[in-house]
Amino acid sequence: MPAFEKFRENWLRPALFFGNNPISLAGGAITTASGITMISYWVVEIVFRRVSDNPYLGIIFFLIVPALFVLGLALIPVGIYLRRRELQQAGQIPAEFPRVDFNDPVFRHGVDIVLVATIVNFLVVATASYRGASYMDSPQFCGQSCHVMKPEYTAYQISPHSHVACVECHIGSGAQAYFSAKVNGTKQLLEVSFHPIAPLAPKIIPNYPEPIPSPVTSLRPARYTCEECHTPTRFDGDKLLVKSEFADDEKNTETQTVLILHLGGVDSLSHYIGIHGVHLGHIEYIATDSTRTTIPWVQRVNPDGTKTTYVSSALNGVQPQGERRLMDCIDCHNRAAHTFVTAEEAINQAMAGGAISPDLPWVHKEGLSLLKASYSSQAQAGVEIPRQLEAFYRQNDPGLLASNGPQVKAAGQELVLLYDQNVFPFMKVTWGTHPNHIGHMSYPGCFRCHDGDHVAKGGAAITQDCSACHNLLAVEEAKPKVLSDLGIQ
Ligand code: HEC
Ligand code: HEC
Ligand code: HEC
Ligand code: HEC
Ligand code: HEC
Repeated sequence: MPAFEKFRENWLRPALFFGNNPISLAGGAITTASGITMISYWVVEIVFRRVSDNPYLGIIFFLIVPALFVLGLALIPVGIYLRRRELQQAGQIPAEFPRVDFNDPVFRHGVDIVLVATIVNFLVVATASYRGASYMDSPQFCGQSCHVMKPEYTAYQISPHSHVACVECHIGSGAQAYFSAKVNGTKQLLEVSFHPIAPLAPKIIPNYPEPIPSPVTSLRPARYTCEECHTPTRFDGDKLLVKSEFADDEKNTETQTVLILHLGGVDSLSHYIGIHGVHLGHIEYIATDSTRTTIPWVQRVNPDGTKTTYVSSALNGVQPQGERRLMDCIDCHNRAAHTFVTAEEAINQAMAGGAISPDLPWVHKEGLSLLKASYSSQAQAGVEIPRQLEAFYRQNDPGLLASNGPQVKAAGQELVLLYDQNVFPFMKVTWGTHPNHIGHMSYPGCFRCHDGDHVAKGGAAITQDCSACHNLLAVEEAKPKVLSDLGIQ
């Protein structure tokens, strides 16, 4: 028998015969309905050229509807199989299936429809899987569909990387990275689903940690993330930094600190200099705590190939146990996409920018204490902060409330915004939960190593010389002269 005839006799006829059962027909209906829904959604997107950034619409149209489509398709052969088994058990399998006759136009059209539908289904499934996969790579999906990510997503949206997809930094390329990310994602999905009942049996039921801990040990080295966009050997030279601070007095007295950071890099003679140059690929360290804050052992490969080992005196000559790591961008820029500031930094920046008017007496002191107070939720903070700020002025300076009412209101709203960007009571994220390693004022940062206590055999310590890293042009000065000299307002 020629192949086609074989196919027709042994497969097509039985399939058409057995396919006429409730399960297969329901499958066909589900597939048709979800297929039409999906395609209409795509058409709407193409015609109106806009993609909704509502994560739940995304979950429905990119994940659930395509899943229904595939489920419907799968039901068709399942129904065929069950019906066949049922008839077989009852001994009712017909000796001769209904006629398959290609001369019969009705039958021929039926086959045409099945063929065309199969091709269409194939295209739809391929498109839907591609779109589903790329949807799962989108920041909307990673950051918004799961409330657990709210702190990171909020900080991300106001970071310089707000247009870099989460997956660029967090998930590698290639099938293996994709697969392990999805396995991890499934685990996290279970943790989120079981969260409400997890405390009943903490050891058995999966749960997610609050807050989500950093460092993220699975993050790939900067070579595969940051350096995909930033050239590591770039020469950045010096960078001017101006920081404003306001005092806790009635006038909110403003002072400024002005410094020149020696960022350096690789200079035109290929010397590795300054903050960026010196640490490039040459330094390994051992951290003895899970947050990489306690670093008692540091080893540097010098430009001539020799190694210098710096150890902290706390070690007393014992080799430390812990994570050994090659230093890269993330050891300083650990908050590149998710900077949470301290309450002081938050209010100082807002006042320097004018969002909170420095003309309101005592606003720095009052605002700071309102920011640092404890609230049960962002919603509660959103009510309490403006209410208490207003109550403060009503009690102490009613005239001001009458003349500067709108400024007080705006200050209250700005404080709420600052709180909402940095404190997330439901995830136990508060001021200082996620330290920033850049600098040394609010957290140990550079001084994890540059504390003067990391000493090599010859007696040289990792430098704590202020001028190695920056020139301090003004420290907490009112209206520093250097700024007017430079023409900076
Ligand atoms: C520019 C790179 C980059 C992008 C883009 C990025 N992240 Fe991160 N993310 C990091 C780094 C770096 C860390 C800190 C790693 C460390 O300390 O080891 C981090 C940490 C985290 C953490 C751990 C908790 C914490 O706050 O440290 C979560 C959760 C997270 N990111 C989620 C996201 C989500 C969701 C997105 C997208 C909306 C995203 N990230 C986008 C670089 C990035
Ligand atoms: C997909 C590309 C991309 C990746 C990956 C990326 N960045 Fe960036 N980064 C940018 C762009 C673009 C800017 C400039 C944004 C701007 O000027 O507004 C930037 C800005 C920065 C800045 C300057 C921030 C500022 O306040 O001016 C730092 C620091 C930085 N990136 C560090 C990192 C680190 C560390 C990583 C790895 C964890 C990283 N970037 C990964 C594209 C990227
Ligand atoms: C030893 C710590 C350290 C390491 C390691 C480090 N940086 Fe930086 N980087 C800094 C400091 C400090 C600044 C200035 C911070 C500021 O502007 O407040 C900076 C600034 C930057 C800027 C902004 C430059 C500008 O002109 O404003 C970029 C971009 C950047 N770093 C990228 C990187 C990348 C990419 C890597 C990894 C190849 C890296 N950094 C490694 C400390 C470091
Ligand atoms: C893991 C340890 C470690 C951390 C964290 C670290 N450094 Fe370093 N740094 C070193 C070592 C080791 C050297 C080389 C020894 C030396 O020059 O004193 C070095 C050298 C330097 C130098 C060159 C000093 C010179 O005399 O030429 C600068 C500048 C510098 N670091 C800045 C920074 C800044 C800024 C930070 C924080 C953003 C930082 N480092 C964080 C280990 C570290
Ligand atoms: C290992 C490098 C390093 C050393 C050593 C160092 N600093 Fe800094 N310092 C930094 C960096 C980096 C910043 C900028 C942080 C930022 O971007 O916010 C900074 C910022 C500052 C600021 C401004 C901070 C603010 O937020 O107002 C002051 C003041 C300061 N340093 C004082 C000193 C003094 C004094 C010394 C000497 C005892 C010193 N630093 C030693 C790296 C260093």
